[in-house]
Amino acid sequence: LWIVLGIRRRHPGEPPLENGVIPYLGCALRFGANPLEFLRHLQRRHGRIFTCRIAGQYIHFLCDPFSFHSVARQGRHLDWKKFHLSTSAKAFGHESMDPNHGHTTENLQQTFRKTLQGEALPSLIKTMMENLQSAMLPSGTLKASSLHWQQDGILAFCYKVIFEASYLTLFGQELSAHENESPLEQEARKATVLNALENYKEFDKIFPALVAGLPIHIFKSGHSARENLAKSFLRQNLSRRRNISDLISLRMHLNDTLTNFDDLSKARTHVALLWASQANTLPATFWSLFYLIRSPEAIKAAAEEVTEMLKSSGQKTSPRWPHLTLSREQLDSMRVLDSIIKEALRLSSASLNIRVAKEAFQLRMENEKSYHIRKDDVIAFYPQMLHFDPEIYEDPLTFKYDRFLDENGQEKKSFYKDGRKLHYYFMPFGSGVTKCPGRFFAMYEIKQFLTLLLCYFEVELLDPNAEAPPLDQSRAGLGILQPAHDIDFRYRYKTA
Ligand code: HEM
Repeated sequence: LWIVLGIRRRHPGEPPLENGVIPYLGCALRFGANPLEFLRHLQRRHGRIFTCRIAGQYIHFLCDPFSFHSVARQGRHLDWKKFHLSTSAKAFGHESMDPNHGHTTENLQQTFRKTLQGEALPSLIKTMMENLQSAMLPSGTLKASSLHWQQDGILAFCYKVIFEASYLTLFGQELSAHENESPLEQEARKATVLNALENYKEFDKIFPALVAGLPIHIFKSGHSARENLAKSFLRQNLSRRRNISDLISLRMHLNDTLTNFDDLSKARTHVALLWASQANTLPATFWSLFYLIRSPEAIKAAAEEVTEMLKSSGQKTSPRWPHLTLSREQLDSMRVLDSIIKEALRLSSASLNIRVAKEAFQLRMENEKSYHIRKDDVIAFYPQMLHFDPEIYEDPLTFKYDRFLDENGQEKKSFYKDGRKLHYYFMPFGSGVTKCPGRFFAMYEIKQFLTLLLCYFEVELLDPNAEAPPLDQSRAGLGILQPAHDIDFRYRYKTA
């Protein structure tokens, strides 16, 4: 019967096994309902590593942060591309980007490193700051009405502003855009970006289902939304844009020179990057802004930091002349904002770190005990188990704006478990070879957004005692979770 159902038995030397009660799905439903509760329950029962059958796949959950580096060290046996690249092809519909499949010879990691990190950052930061200001502040003539309080949902506001600014930063402006546009021309250009946002949201809704393996054609509007985005990224349309980021222009070049993709497949690889650049950043900005506004101490400390920064860089802000600039070094020195964003990420991140075993091997834990892992099994760690561990983060469900600040106001890097200093304690960006290549840019984007908001606006919650909305668990495993509902706030331009 075990063999007929495709269910395995635990062999000597393997981690404890949970097959679950339902054939094929195994533990999927209980994991899906509340991954953290489920994994904690199994950790209490089995200890530092155990195996669950989830949707036909055997996954070894590693719950001991001191052993994470053993997985990092086992590169020879573990494949990270298999999961990443096949997920991307499944969701976005491009040909396989895995060089082993013969459609491309591009080294994506290298492309991302070159265009999203190090020397690439100052120009991304500069363009993003300009785009954020034009997204947040109607430049030129400020309408009298905009000096009154305006009301919006925090999530809705973050989506509009961040999506527009980072979309334009990566994919450039339409050729027709110019400095002295009439309000009508400006509106028309904004409408195109808002249309892209609508398509993005429609597609993003079905993303978890696509990752789970459902075919896209059963989702009519999600499917056409993805294809609309892809059409806008066909070469002939991208060539009508200027100031395209190094990331997208290099990818266009490599699509043309290193792959045998057709035009649509090339365009769909750009949709994948649009999604990667927005899907976590949008909810992360929501949580950062929500917690900032809700905590009087946080907003006071952040406002002081921003004022200090303006003073030391000799800049004044006026919504009528929105041309604030901050260098990478200046942004780096804003430690309070850094800590606020990290704390918001800690509370909202639910990414699953995954590797696939290329061959059977022995996984050696930190205590020297080894476990046998079979070929094609998955090894996973779920960072929420660290982020919500009361031993590592005291009172883990509470937002503490200065949690990542040390006694000198610098970045705090010492966190402990069992009296031992942890190397892995903060993992919203993943770990090792698959760590998010856009993490530096993401932190700068959110910092820039919060800085501008504090410079130009007065902000307050409509309900000052609004509880933090629950995390929407439907995307658990995929990154930063959305709030289950939006929270209303109001804002108005500072006149001084
Ligand atoms: C991958 C988190 C923003 C580009 C990832 C992964 C995570 C992540 C968890 C997968 C890592 C893994 O599976 O181990 C985040 C968070 C962000 C953010 C929390 C914002 C707060 C960005 C931005 C960009 C970006 C702004 C680009 C501009 C990418 C790319 C990948 C990726 C290209 C795929 C890398 C690969 O497959 O090799 N991100 N990300 N991310 N992220 Fe981000």
